[in-house]
Amino acid sequence: MGKKLFIHTYGCQMNVYDTARMADVMAVHGYGRAASPAEADLVILNTCHIREKAAEKIFSALGRLRELKHLRLAEGRNLVIGVAGCVAQAEGQELLRRAPFVDIVVGPQTYHRLPELVADASERGLKAVDTEFPAESKFDHLPEDSATQGPSAFLTIQEGCDKFCTFCVVPYTRGAEFSRPARDVIKEAQRLVACGAREITLLGQNVNAYHGAGSSGEVGLGQLIRHLADIDGLERIRYTTSHPRDVDDDLIAAHRDVPKLMPFLHLPAQSGSDRILAAMNRTYTTDEYRDVVTRLRAARPDLALSSDFIVGFPGETEAEFEETLHLAGEMGFAQAYSFKYSARPGTPAAAYDDQVQAQTVDERLARLRTLLDRLQCDFNERFIGRELYVLLDRQGRAPGQLIGRSPHMQSVYLRAPRESLGQIVRVRVMAAFANSLSGERTDRGDYGSPDRQWAVGTLHAIAPMGAD
Ligand code: 5AD
Ligand code: SF4
Repeated sequence: MGKKLFIHTYGCQMNVYDTARMADVMAVHGYGRAASPAEADLVILNTCHIREKAAEKIFSALGRLRELKHLRLAEGRNLVIGVAGCVAQAEGQELLRRAPFVDIVVGPQTYHRLPELVADASERGLKAVDTEFPAESKFDHLPEDSATQGPSAFLTIQEGCDKFCTFCVVPYTRGAEFSRPARDVIKEAQRLVACGAREITLLGQNVNAYHGAGSSGEVGLGQLIRHLADIDGLERIRYTTSHPRDVDDDLIAAHRDVPKLMPFLHLPAQSGSDRILAAMNRTYTTDEYRDVVTRLRAARPDLALSSDFIVGFPGETEAEFEETLHLAGEMGFAQAYSFKYSARPGTPAAAYDDQVQAQTVDERLARLRTLLDRLQCDFNERFIGRELYVLLDRQGRAPGQLIGRSPHMQSVYLRAPRESLGQIVRVRVMAAFANSLSGERTDRGDYGSPDRQWAVGTLHAIAPMGAD
């Protein structure tokens, strides 16, 4: 019997991609996927270090795995435990001190070496910490074949970050910015499409800083998207996460010219106060953020926007927080994430001495969330009675129910046979909720004609976001 692997993924989509690739690497060495840790010979936690809460979760999960390992050892078998991702990168050797029953600590840049590390652990009982930033790229060592990711796939095109926002650990855990060559990205996209992907989300910590090598000089994200749009069978392209400073004219033009580029953009603002943005080292002002959004919406009037906000950054006053509320309302975000500021070891902001009181932060977060929830409901309600194309990518809980994504990233619930999974179908929206839409199909079969009209009833039919 082949061995089995279970990977628990925490954090962002980049970790989801890395998890898929770790599974690909181990599949070459005979490891199938297990449905739970109890069925696995190897358990990997692919971890996130972005906020303290995320990092602490890992240690409670490890506590549970220690129990499982003890049970196994009592039965005369072993369970190899690995920690991958950003906590592994940040803690390194220290992680083995805190959790000595862990066998493998592997960072995001070296998981192509997992097979050796796993063999050392399972056959020779050796522990390993591999958190190097090697000169060779892991992408050159990952297997060509990847397991199916389904109709909607992730593809990492850029890693690391050189922006050094003062609150953020990413430049330390993921290292300096690196873009994969355009040819490699296109090849991987073709492979994903051949395996059934119809939508690809291009990933990077700072994805729109992408500047991969091309056949004649560097290729920016806008140009890369145009190349990918030529792939037959690929119907939808998205990218995340972007930095407002790196939205260039060519990328904006791609939003105007490439129908396959979906009208949804996650563009974190972080704060609505210029003083706080400067203290965060975000390198833009609120007016510059507004200007980028205005230009994007001129190019693609139905563009829906999403954002991240941090509340309670050191020194944030009530008036500065209210500027964040103001900016959020003005932009009319279709959805947005909001986080309490979390002091991360080693980042400049952690040493600022004017940390905001916990109670004040809680209260501000609640106020911001109330506003963001209302904006999201307002956005969703605009779609009632309209028709949308929906990529069906999951089964719903109710029998006969499937769930898909609208062009604007809304989850759409409808009744459809299971065989429709992976199809793009036309749906009339009947009801809107805080986090989803529900609707009915108005077509039969898949949407595949070459002269398609991309988002019937949405493109130009809804007012530019934030206009009302
Ligand atoms: N505290 C709170 N939120 C943070 N983020 C990043 N670092 C921190 C931190 N130290 C948020 C930012 C970022 C998102 C991925 O996580 O809003 O855009
Ligand atoms: Fe972190 Fe800022 Fe880089 Fe985003 S742009 S990963 S918030 S340092």
